[in-house]
Amino acid sequence: MATGDGARGLRGDDTEIVTGDARRAQDHARRAEAAEGAPQDVARYVSAVGAAGAAERARLRALFAALPVGVVLVDARAADLPIVFANAAFSALTGYPIPAALGRNCRFLQGPDTAPVAVATLRRAIAGGTGCTVTLRNYRHDGTPFWNELTLAPLHDAAGHVIAYVGVQVDVTAHVEADRQQALQAAVLDATAEGIYGLDHAGRCTFINPAAATLLGYTPAEVLGRDMHALVHHHHRDGTPYLPDACPIHQAAAGGQGVRVADEVIWRRDGTAVPVAYAVQPMAGAGFAGAVVTLVDVRERERAEQERAALLARERTARAEAEAAVAQRDHLLALAAHDLRTPLAALIGEVQLRQRRLQRGRPLSAEEQGPFLATLHDLLHRQVAVVSEVTDAAYVRMGEQLALRVEAVDLGALAHEVADLLAHAHGAGAAAIDVAAPAGVVIVGDRDRLVRVLQNIIGNAVKYSPASAPVQASVRAEEGGAVVVVRDAGVGIPTGEIDRVFTPFYRASTARGFAGTGLGLAGARAIVAQHGGTIALESAPGVGTTVTITLPGGEGAARGS
Ligand SMILES: Cc1cc2nc3c(=O)[nH]c(=O)nc-3n(C[C@H](O)[C@H](O)[C@H](O)COP(=O)(O)O)c2cc1C
Repeated sequence: MATGDGARGLRGDDTEIVTGDARRAQDHARRAEAAEGAPQDVARYVSAVGAAGAAERARLRALFAALPVGVVLVDARAADLPIVFANAAFSALTGYPIPAALGRNCRFLQGPDTAPVAVATLRRAIAGGTGCTVTLRNYRHDGTPFWNELTLAPLHDAAGHVIAYVGVQVDVTAHVEADRQQALQAAVLDATAEGIYGLDHAGRCTFINPAAATLLGYTPAEVLGRDMHALVHHHHRDGTPYLPDACPIHQAAAGGQGVRVADEVIWRRDGTAVPVAYAVQPMAGAGFAGAVVTLVDVRERERAEQERAALLARERTARAEAEAAVAQRDHLLALAAHDLRTPLAALIGEVQLRQRRLQRGRPLSAEEQGPFLATLHDLLHRQVAVVSEVTDAAYVRMGEQLALRVEAVDLGALAHEVADLLAHAHGAGAAAIDVAAPAGVVIVGDRDRLVRVLQNIIGNAVKYSPASAPVQASVRAEEGGAVVVVRDAGVGIPTGEIDRVFTPFYRASTARGFAGTGLGLAGARAIVAQHGGTIALESAPGVGTTVTITLPGGEGAARGS
C-alpha cells in the first residue's frame, strides 16, 4: 500500500499497522472534534499518527489482534477492496484461517440469505467514503450461517483521501434470534383469542395480552405490576370472598402446581363477573417463580348449555304430554269400545231371542215389541252420542271447526229434557236435578251438540255429587243471549287443576274412581266456543262446582222472559 502521503500503509502480511503517539493522537482528535463539532473517526486518528514509531505500531497491531471482536482492514486503493489485515477473532468467527482471507473482498462471507438491501447499504457507504453499521446474514467456512453486525469506518490520509477501511464484525446471532423469538411470542400473544397473562411469585402481573386486557376491561398499563388476585379474582361467583391462599392461580405462581379450572368467575373493571375457564402453568427458573394464566370467556358456552337444558326440558315435557295424550286416547278408545260393545252384546242377545221366536212362528206381540224398540232407540241414541263425542274431540284436537247444524233451540225445554234423561239414566240412587228454566229462552244453535253440552255439564254435576245434594240447573235469558248455570255440591276440583279440566283427556285428581273419558268438558267448551259463547268453571274441593255457560242468541232468536 502506498504511504507517500504521510499516512503509514496497512499491510496484509499483518506486520505493518500505522500507529503513533497516542497522546498526540488524542489531542489531535479532541482538537479536530472541537473544530468540526463531529465525533472523531479512526481515519483522522490514523492520519494524525502517521509519524508514529514502530513501538506504537506494534502496540496497536497487538491491540487489534487481541480484540475479542472480528477486525479487518481492507485496502481502499487496491482493486476490489482486498483484506490486508484480519485478526484472530475474525478467523474464529468466520472459520477462515487468516491467510485464506487475505487478499479477498469480504463478500465471500455472503450467501443465499444475505439481504441485498444490507449489501446495498454497504456499497453506498463505501462509494460515499463514509462509515455505516448493518446487521446481515453471513456464512462461516463450514457453511453455517450467523448474524454479523458489521461496522465500517474509512481511514483517511492527511489529504483526506480514503486509503483504507476498518471493518468490525460482531456475532449477534443470539440477539437476533432472541429478538425474533420475542417478536414471535409477542405476535402470538397479540393474535390469540385466549386471554393470557403472566404473574411473578407474588401474583403481580408481568405481562398481559390484548385479549386478556379486553376481557378484564383494563388497559395493559393499568394491570402491569398489580396483584391480579386482588384486582380480578377477589370474590367467588356467589359473592363470598375468595382468599388468596385458596386460589389455585396464586398458589401456582408461588411455586405450586398447574391446574385447570372450568367454572369460576373473574371480575371486570366495571364490577361485572364473567364466567371463565382457566389454566395456570407455573414457571420456575433459577431465581424466579411465577405462572402463566390462560383465560377463556365461557359466557357463550354457558348460555348455550342453558339453552340446551331448556330445550331438553321442553322436549321432555312435550314428550310426556304426547305420551299422556296417547295413553289417554288409548284409555278413551278402550272406554268407547266398552261403552259401545257392552250394550250391543246385550242387544244381539235380545235380537237373537226375537229371531228364534219368529222362526218358531211365535213373533212378539205389538205390546211386547214396544219397550224393546224404546230401549233399542235409547241405546242407539247413546251410541251415536258416544261416537259423536269422540268424532268432535278428534276434530277439535286436529284444530278443525265443527260443522254446526243450526236451528232455533229452546234452551229451557232442552234443560228439562236433558235432566229427565239423566235422572232416568242415573236412577234413584243419584243426586236429584232441580231445573229452573222458563220456557221460551230460545237461541240459534246446533241442538244435538247443545244437548251434549248440557248432558256433560249436568251429568258431571250428578256424577260427582252425593245423592243427598241435589244439582241446581238454571237457564235464563240475558241481553243478547242466554245463560245456563249448573251448580253442584260435589267433590269439586283443586284450584290448580281448574284450567286444565278443559284439556282433552285431562281428568281432575278428584275424578278418580268415577267413569269418564276426559273429553266431556273439552268437547263442551269447543261446542260453546263455536256458538260464540263462553264456559267458565268455579270450584273448590269439598265445596262443589259451578259451571256458567253463556250463549249468544243468534240471528232471529226469540227470547223468553
Ligand atoms: C472493511 C470492510 C469489511 C467488510 N466486512 C464484511 C463482512 O464481514 N461481511 C460482509 O458480508 N461484507 C463485508 N464487507 C462488504 C463487502 O466487502 C462489500 O463491500 C459489499 O458486499 C458490497 O460490495 P459488492 O456489491 O461489490 O459486493 C466489508 C467491506 C469492508 C470495506
